[in-house]
Amino acid sequence: MNIININDNKLYYVGGVVRDELLGIESLDVDVVYEGNAIEFAKSLSEAEILQINEPFGTVRVKLDGREVDIASTRDEVYERKGHLPTVTKIGVTLESDVKRRDFTINTLYKSVSTGEIVDLTGGREDLKNKTIRVLHDESFIDDPTRIIRALKFAVRFGFKLDKHTKKLQDDYLKNINYDMCYKRIKKELIETFNLNSQTAFETFIKDNIYKLVTEKKVTLPRVNIEKLINLYPVDNIWLVYAGVLGDLSRLPLTKTEQKILDDFSVTGKLKTDFEIYKAFEKAMPETILLYAILKDEKAAVKYLDKLRCIKLSINGKDLQEIGIAPSPEYQEIFDYVLKLKLKSPDMSKADEIKAARNYLVG
Ligand code: CTP
Repeated sequence: MNIININDNKLYYVGGVVRDELLGIESLDVDVVYEGNAIEFAKSLSEAEILQINEPFGTVRVKLDGREVDIASTRDEVYERKGHLPTVTKIGVTLESDVKRRDFTINTLYKSVSTGEIVDLTGGREDLKNKTIRVLHDESFIDDPTRIIRALKFAVRFGFKLDKHTKKLQDDYLKNINYDMCYKRIKKELIETFNLNSQTAFETFIKDNIYKLVTEKKVTLPRVNIEKLINLYPVDNIWLVYAGVLGDLSRLPLTKTEQKILDDFSVTGKLKTDFEIYKAFEKAMPETILLYAILKDEKAAVKYLDKLRCIKLSINGKDLQEIGIAPSPEYQEIFDYVLKLKLKSPDMSKADEIKAARNYLVG
């Protein structure tokens, strides 16, 4: 790893980037920390262009050798309001102090940018070797319950297990949840976890009661394997197909599209005929259809996805006009009549459809 070209012995790579390098996998982003005040440090660099400063957090975004890098100051934080963003109490502290605000030992490794030496203050290397996720202190989940979902995310991504005591702290917290927490952060972690499309992750999420962070309603594991379903029928919002199973996402801040996916699912009742299935799903988002498959009627949803959705009428309003039918609300009835026939006989040609439309009028 040689991402930054600055020779300063107070500059460290930290967190995911060091963890991932030791695991031999590619990192999603690069976090850099300066043992001191990162903003002043960045200003002193002639080769860095300052792009953005966040004074209260002591972080700065710079452009270095054409690359954007976030540099954080080492800092102390306190969780004045549990479950919400912490408050920074001091900037420019030692690494020994900075490390205390972090989530798991595997995310606490610092690697000197100038010498490449790794500073391990919590036994993170050992835990990496043993594939163990371990919190730094007993209050960790109380301070920040998003860490429970983060632990699941890392466990699934790397095939790691929670250390026994960490699991006990998690279980304790889940029996006594403080629902006054920042659900924007919870949503972010749910997205990152469920977008991994892992049935195992979802089973742990339900069986270990992690879902209780989101809803107080009881949830049981559906019979359908969601991972397989999504592999067969890919969707954009994978996470929402998993999260939608909870049936109550009222605590999460949802976009209009996300809310529509859920609303369309809830209003769709029992679908008996192919025509009813077709009409229910023709304008629905694929995520809505998958939720229907998981929670209501897998056969009907799969029939639509495999077969019915490929069937389309060839005739349109212009064709009806050409055979002498004046535009009127009756057009919809005619289309539905022809569609019902075409769902039974998908090979109908356009001429067959026109004939069927004429028949409808006759009688
Ligand atoms: N962190 C934390 N508690 C959180 C979020 C983040 O302690 N709720 C700390 C961890 O030390 C983490 C670092 O901030 O390593 C950066 O966070 P983030 O970028 O979210 O995680 P990464 O470990 O970099 O993992 P990823 O590969 O998913 O980016």
